Amino acid sequence: MSENKDLKAYADALQEQIMQQMRKVYSAAVIEYWQNPRNVGKIDNPDGYGKVKGVCGDTMEIFLKIDKNKISECTFMTDGCGTSMVAGSMATEIAKNKTFTEALAIVSAEEILKQLGGLPQDSVHCAQLASESLRGALADYLHNRGSSWKKHYRKI
Ligand code: FES
Repeated sequence: MSENKDLKAYADALQEQIMQQMRKVYSAAVIEYWQNPRNVGKIDNPDGYGKVKGVCGDTMEIFLKIDKNKISECTFMTDGCGTSMVAGSMATEIAKNKTFTEALAIVSAEEILKQLGGLPQDSVHCAQLASESLRGALADYLHNRGSSWKKHYRKI
């Protein structure tokens, strides 16, 4: 019993040490999104779909559902780093409930970085990846609009 308590105290102390290190590097928002990612997953038969490979070689996919010109659902998948999960979460949060035009105007790496309170320089490209993937999904929506049959020919 006491051995279990020691082990738990050790694990708690270790976790606190890790969190202290993270707080030195990342903002509170980044840590919160890292612990609680948003909008992760795929949407079947999306109205907009974007997939981009970033400079690091990792990829991100974005899926959009658009109802009456409003983004009703926006999800993402990535095989990238923890920061790409954070950036994808923020990008999809920014886009949700916006009109197509509003999302196009607002979603950028700069906006994602601003909302996250910044990222270390070597992780800025992860925000770029999220922004480009979302813009790709918006472009795909625009391309398919009025010809929904085109969706069936894209590779997801
Ligand atoms: Fe590749 Fe972050 S997305 S390192």
